[in-house]
Amino acid sequence: MTDSLTVRDNRTGAEYEIPIVDGTIRAADLGQIKTADDQPGLATYDPGFVNTASCRSAITYIDGEKGILEYRGYPIEQLAEHSNFLEVAYLLIHGDLPTREQYDQWVHEITFHTFVHENVKGFMQGFRYDAHPMGMLMASVGALSTFYPESRHIEDPDNRHIQIVRMIAKMPTLGAWSFRHAQGKPYIYPDNELSYSENFLSMLFKMSEAKYAADPRIAKALDVLFILHADHEQNCSTNAVRSVGSSQVDPYSAVAAGIGALFGPLHGGANEAVLKMLRRIGSKENIPGFIEGVKNGEERLMGFGHRVYKNYDPRAKIIKKACDDVFEVTGVNPLLEVAQELEKIALEDEYFVKRKLYPNVDFYSGLIYEALEFPPEMFTVLFAIGRTPGWLAQWLELVQDKDQKIARPKQIYTGARTLDFVPAEKRWA
Ligand code: CMC
Repeated sequence: MTDSLTVRDNRTGAEYEIPIVDGTIRAADLGQIKTADDQPGLATYDPGFVNTASCRSAITYIDGEKGILEYRGYPIEQLAEHSNFLEVAYLLIHGDLPTREQYDQWVHEITFHTFVHENVKGFMQGFRYDAHPMGMLMASVGALSTFYPESRHIEDPDNRHIQIVRMIAKMPTLGAWSFRHAQGKPYIYPDNELSYSENFLSMLFKMSEAKYAADPRIAKALDVLFILHADHEQNCSTNAVRSVGSSQVDPYSAVAAGIGALFGPLHGGANEAVLKMLRRIGSKENIPGFIEGVKNGEERLMGFGHRVYKNYDPRAKIIKKACDDVFEVTGVNPLLEVAQELEKIALEDEYFVKRKLYPNVDFYSGLIYEALEFPPEMFTVLFAIGRTPGWLAQWLELVQDKDQKIARPKQIYTGARTLDFVPAEKRWA
């Protein structure tokens, strides 16, 4: 077997041998296929990159058919059960699990970079009372580039490291403050004696008490949710981080672009849509009618189906378990019953079975977030905090990858050509 593709161009009869490496051909190799020397070479047309690899990556592995997700080779189930978010962040960024010294040093560094410059607080307070927290987060992360102008020196490994630490450390502070802002409550400073998720809960919910003591089960569930969202290879927001990062801009600007991409309802907003759907269904009796509507194409079963997973999303299984832990503290969200029954019916129904539609990560996460008293606008902020190490690991890989160039896709031009411009005074005469 030869690892190559023989292409015959029926326009000219010419044949080409194109190497296949790692199951891909280089799109640039198609450029040699031309009808004449002065004509453009053959290109591929792939809106949404449905079948185009944009990078080589050693960070996250997904097998959508089998429902497998691994970070740096470690199964998500094992990381969710036995690790914690900061250790997973270390793994994603550095490629290996830390030694005890490395772990302690990493946690210390993150913990002692949670504070932001007072002027950040000042401009966050300037947002309108009803500002969406994702808009506030995106703007604040972008603005951090002005507080750390040296972050532009992306060729310097020590400099890259400190910016990565800062971003992972400050994201909960900015996220919590955007939440407090909408409520008109004072912003709470970080508490460096608390763990990552305990500190986040403190900045979200602390009032006049001297110290906020989060329920350990809630803190653990939140930590697991962050782990589950930490990376998902080349999704829309990661692609945005890489694309903007390929211009060699500082990492704050690149991650701000990722936050913008995540803000969109097709990406980070699905869990909110699940919640609205469950509320609309209301009770178990209404499920059969709803399912009929989905099968007739009148609507979608939100939280089901995935571009990559054609099996149970491994993250959804873990979230289901986290639901039990959270509801033990908060009381059961009455919509859980509806969700469970909906899942049971859908998994047995031929429509969903035939199309390999299974629950995805968003099916149960909204129920947890609601039980924790987060308004729906905050759901995507939580996703962004969890995804930050993944964005940064991907950015780091990008800036060290000699194969990478500035992202600059081709287009198929469909507009007019060589028109003669008529000045306004003549056109309007
Ligand atoms: N409910 C009903 N039918 C569905 C659904 C659904 N949720 N998802 C897909 N289908 C049907 C679709 O109508 C099509 O049927 P047919 O072959 O008869 O035309 C078939 O399944 C294939 O669907 P598709 O739209 O071609 O698949 P896609 O890969 O383009 O879409 C998706 C993936 C996630 C956008 C889609 O499944 C969907 O809209 N799901 C609901 C929204 C949702 O839960 N999104 C969260 C995704 S997970 C978040 C993350 O990982 O970042």
